[in-house]
Amino acid sequence: EGMDHSTMNDDMEGHMDHDEVVSLNDSTGENELKIPSVLESDNEEELVYTVRAQKGETEIFDGTKTKTYGYNGSFLGPVLRFEKGDTVKIRTINELDEETTFHWHGLEVSGEEDGGPHSVIEPGEEKLIEFEVTQEASTLWFHPHPDGKTSEQVYNGLAGLIYIEDDNSRNLGLPDEYGKNDIPLIFQDKTFDDEKQLNYSAAMNEDGTIGDTSLINGTLNPKLTVNKEKVRLRLLNGSNARNYTFKLNTGDSFVQVATDGGFLNEPVTLNEITLTPSERAEIVIDFSQLNTEDELALINEEDGSTLLPFEVSDQSGEDSSIPEEMNDFSITEEERNLPVTKEVELFGMMDQVTINGKKFDPDRIDFTQEQGVTEVWEIYNKPDDMGGMIHPFHIHGAQFKILSRNGEEPPENERGWKDTISVEPDETVKIAIQFKNKGVYMFHCHILEHEDNGMMGQVKVE
Ligand code: C2O
Ligand code: CU
Ligand code: CU
Repeated sequence: EGMDHSTMNDDMEGHMDHDEVVSLNDSTGENELKIPSVLESDNEEELVYTVRAQKGETEIFDGTKTKTYGYNGSFLGPVLRFEKGDTVKIRTINELDEETTFHWHGLEVSGEEDGGPHSVIEPGEEKLIEFEVTQEASTLWFHPHPDGKTSEQVYNGLAGLIYIEDDNSRNLGLPDEYGKNDIPLIFQDKTFDDEKQLNYSAAMNEDGTIGDTSLINGTLNPKLTVNKEKVRLRLLNGSNARNYTFKLNTGDSFVQVATDGGFLNEPVTLNEITLTPSERAEIVIDFSQLNTEDELALINEEDGSTLLPFEVSDQSGEDSSIPEEMNDFSITEEERNLPVTKEVELFGMMDQVTINGKKFDPDRIDFTQEQGVTEVWEIYNKPDDMGGMIHPFHIHGAQFKILSRNGEEPPENERGWKDTISVEPDETVKIAIQFKNKGVYMFHCHILEHEDNGMMGQVKVE
């Protein structure tokens, strides 16, 4: 009896920890935001990129070296920039002392190239992959996916961005000067120990590891200096578990132009936007009427913390505008009328998380779907005795459409391509999904500790 009691208490404490999420530090704005480099092709005749997962040391805090992981560097990774229609080769090299995989989150490639837990690369080994970029302009990302070790490797620093550009993205006239008025923002939270080290096993929470220290692109206490112009921010929630609700400290509105997998049809004006782990959004903030003394900052409405103060220079920038029409995303009547053919029930917390009552088994195929055929999946987040929690649900290898949330049309800013959706307790979300390629793909909760605890299944596309 005593043991039952203590087990239960542990569970409850873990859950309460989750509800009362640790607040993030406020950025003091003392460091200019780091902008990841853009990876160049190894040679001019063909597009071949080399991506190495490696260990390193990073000066996150002045004068201290923190042991970290990174791609082609000590922490995080470069931006891979592809053009729709490109045939791309990537040499993926594992220079870590442990197994890893290279997963291209949001990219529509075959199961072979997708880099799920079956595609392990042993330490010191490499694998060349090749694929064609067939999808439209979007901001995707890449990270490791080894079974049971994803959360720790991402936490230690393995994550990078992928940009896809196409004729449409180049002709829209949106701000697109990389690092100047088109800025990537990878939001992560970490806990540093007394030696300013990332000690994953000490920081780890089975229900999702939450840190008290906010890093953007790996920068502690960042600020972003902008000219007086419209600035496009490509937001990625790259945290293991934390949700962010992005808002301006003044309450002023901004405009969302893109979802996970492409542009919205029309810009959507918002006062705030919530992103759960792995979701992306592109937003545009207009700084053209601001003055150098204006104190604008991006804050996290969830805990009131200041994430990114902006410093407006006295330079006027480009006179860009946001077009009224940006895309031709649509949901057909046929798609709306399709029956539900796959049901996904998300349940549990801590290490008791399941999908359809089961934990991940690499030898079990949970669903099959035919290549090129659209099916409707219904995702339900089943509450537990304590209410439950949001699970960000992600499917590999495809961008999908949200048909409904609890039977209602999704909000305007979710009427675009998605690969991850937040599902609230007791919420049912219907999506229409089609895989363009074949292979075995994961679907899972993107709270990385839930994923590692088995809240994952496999769909085989044939
Ligand atoms: Cu970000 Cu299984 O993916
Ligand atoms: Cu993915
Ligand atoms: Cu979850």
